[in-house]
Amino acid sequence: MHVDILTLFPEMFAGFFDCSILKRAQQNNLFEYELHNIRDYSTDKHKKVDDYPYGGESGMVMKIEPIAACIEHLFTLRTYDHVIFLTPDGEVLSQSMANELSMCNNLMMLCGHYKGIDERIREIFITKEISIGDYVLSGGELPAAVLCDTLVRLIPGVLHDETSALSDSFQYGVLSPPVYTRPYNYKGHTVPDVLLSGNDKLITEWKLQKSEERTHKNRPDLFSGE
Ligand code: ADE
Repeated sequence: MHVDILTLFPEMFAGFFDCSILKRAQQNNLFEYELHNIRDYSTDKHKKVDDYPYGGESGMVMKIEPIAACIEHLFTLRTYDHVIFLTPDGEVLSQSMANELSMCNNLMMLCGHYKGIDERIREIFITKEISIGDYVLSGGELPAAVLCDTLVRLIPGVLHDETSALSDSFQYGVLSPPVYTRPYNYKGHTVPDVLLSGNDKLITEWKLQKSEERTHKNRPDLFSGE
């Protein structure tokens, strides 16, 4: 998977992509990303990328020309499965959306800032608007990083154990069961004996029961189909 990220703050991504699973995916040529500084596409002599909104709202709006120039340049290099805009007013990211997007070869992700981006960018170029939750961040950079992380772990071959993404929370509409490792006894808190029983059937039943209990407690909405 190739991801182009358009941002005013490319430095925000340093570190995040160079660790853990995202790093390994790049080393194994399963994922690559490129950062594009939108400011580099401004033809304004002060490299201006924002302006006052028409209609007198407060805050600044990201201008159309630098973003359009960057997108149009990238369109000459690749064909994209989606041009994604990270925005709190987009469709909320879910595991099923991540499963679908993880099959894409080329994605473009546009990170907004300030009050938002000129609506015409959305009308002309954006094919998918994604929010990572019902709260507002300062910009789309963390959401783009979150989206990359959730997609990359689903690419076949990225995780050592192919089944481990399948056992993530949400993959089957419920949260994951608890997990334990050694020591068996930590200051009197012991591991449930069923996990040491060697009885696969009992273990599977126990995990399902714990998944359901946790989902009822923390995310009852997942059961009610909301
Ligand atoms: N930009 C600011 N807040 C956001 C959110 N919650 N999701 C996606 N992009 C955003």
